[in-house]
Amino acid sequence: MCGIVGYIGNRNATPIIIEGLKRLEYRGYDSSGIAIIDKDSKLKLYKESGKIIELERILPAPKEVYGNIGLAHTRWATHGEPTSTNAHPHTSCSGKIAIVHNGIIENFQILKNKLLAQGHVFASETDSEVVAHLIEHFSRKTDDLTLAVQEALKLVEGTFGIAVISEDHPDRIIAARKGSPLIIGIGKNEFFVTSDVSAIIIHTKKVIYLHDDEIVTVTRDSFEITTLENEVVEATISEIDWDVSSIDKGQFKHFMLKEIFEQPISVENAFRGRLVPKLSTTRLGGLNMTGDELRILEKIQIVACGTSWHAGLIGKYIIEHLSRVQVDVEYASEFRYRNPIIPKNTVVIVISQSGETADTLAALREAQARGVRVLGITNVVGSTIARESDGGVYIHAGAEIGVASTKAFTSQVTVLSLLAVLLGRMRHLSPVFGTNFINELKGIPEKIQKIIESNAQIRKIAETIKDATNALYLGRGVNYPVALEGALKLKEISYIHAEGYPAAEMKHGPIALIDENMPVISIVPKDVIYDKIISNLQEVKARNGRIIAIANKGDDVVSELAENVIYIPETLYDLQPLLSVIPLQLLAYHVADLRSLDVDQPRNLAKSVTVE
Ligand code: AGP
Ligand code: GLU
Repeated sequence: MCGIVGYIGNRNATPIIIEGLKRLEYRGYDSSGIAIIDKDSKLKLYKESGKIIELERILPAPKEVYGNIGLAHTRWATHGEPTSTNAHPHTSCSGKIAIVHNGIIENFQILKNKLLAQGHVFASETDSEVVAHLIEHFSRKTDDLTLAVQEALKLVEGTFGIAVISEDHPDRIIAARKGSPLIIGIGKNEFFVTSDVSAIIIHTKKVIYLHDDEIVTVTRDSFEITTLENEVVEATISEIDWDVSSIDKGQFKHFMLKEIFEQPISVENAFRGRLVPKLSTTRLGGLNMTGDELRILEKIQIVACGTSWHAGLIGKYIIEHLSRVQVDVEYASEFRYRNPIIPKNTVVIVISQSGETADTLAALREAQARGVRVLGITNVVGSTIARESDGGVYIHAGAEIGVASTKAFTSQVTVLSLLAVLLGRMRHLSPVFGTNFINELKGIPEKIQKIIESNAQIRKIAETIKDATNALYLGRGVNYPVALEGALKLKEISYIHAEGYPAAEMKHGPIALIDENMPVISIVPKDVIYDKIISNLQEVKARNGRIIAIANKGDDVVSELAENVIYIPETLYDLQPLLSVIPLQLLAYHVADLRSLDVDQPRNLAKSVTVE
């Protein structure tokens, strides 16, 4: 969940890995630490709770932490509180071996008990520390650090991205992965190891993605990848096709705001090159499926978590509407353990911005184990889900740094709408419908831009609800998942309790909560069920609820009912979520900012959830 950066080369490692850590801070940020092997081949360790700035405060002058090899880690605690002792790196009893770890060692207690019985002394409450002691145990039997790490990792159950250095081998970093990303960066006479390319992209764009159960030994001028069984593996070098500017905040106060504002471009990037106006359809080359295979498709099972799951719910509405192919949507964490029924002619679509979410990855593998084709909709090129899927579509949203997902969501929905048109046109959709849909989609970026221009008005509205303790989000049909997403955004970054509901369901329970203190954020565009939502809002108004409406311009009925209205342009029913979600993202952003909260790094969360 958190971040690993390691460096070996001829430069001073400390500033490089600290800078890299800062780029990864969005992934986990409750504590951090570094280990450096200095010029006298001594291991130096600095760890602190809190953000990386706290770690920087305790670092001595640069000269004193000078070394050409080092590891750094920013933590998202799973085992043990985020104290400086529990922060990584962790060392062995001798203090000579240091490790950083992402993931969970599931059998750590059994291993720890054995190691304790052998006399090892533990300093932290983490699961990770056992790995340092295990490596020490095997290092007593061999001089080869790689072999010792291999033996140690063979005993470990769970997930890991791991990197190891040792005072006795000051010329190498050993790194390995299982279920948690680990990447090698190739520089000029220097190498990096990291869990996320953003940490190293200012130094190199040449990378190698390790696969599960692979281990790499990196020295100053070479590297070798093997399996845990010590069989040599041939490496594939990939080139990163984006640069550091996309991970800079620019003039924006927060990444989240920048990413909301980027949506006219990111949505366009999601459909660019994928529209085929001549044939009134779309093209998704990466699916790796023939026309025949797509035509006989009877069911799509979407599996995802969080915001990606909300995108999946919207996908259900659009795909079923346009193609009549049945779509089920399930949380990956439920799907993976439920023994789901997957009928023939089904594909599973996993949706994941990061491409690393542990539950989604496990669901992908479970589906594949049942012989089902899995398509991945991901943002991060080279991510595990992208690599392990049988086919898929990149959303091309660019790096998303804010923990609260915004532009990835609209890009996911865009890609799902492209799939809906593709499948629909292979079935019963007329060319006229296809053309109309494509033209409307092309107009979406400009319409998003229009909504973004309401930013100042939305901030004023945010002022009116910033002290609320609860909020209700209502929407119907394709906007019901948008209500869920709006509520999630508010919860995540403002810590205000919020619920999303299908508007009509409100009277079956949540209506009991409504009083003059309850903001009710309602999505009410002019569509087939408009009149019904208006009735639902009357029910809110009759109980003194404070309505904030997302409506189409010129809607006098809504402006009578609501305390505030945010206007969005009209579009096709299926494309409405791409517009209606924008004011909700901005509203959540401003509420959190007005409450002076850390918008990009909200408490307890992490960008990529690589543990169960
Ligand atoms: C979104 O704002 C959340 N932080 C979270 O729900 C996220 O969408 C979820 O963890 C899934 O992540 P993924 O898309 O990278 O798989
Ligand atoms: N399980 C480890 C810990 O709690 C690593 C957590 C992480 O991935 O940051 O320290």
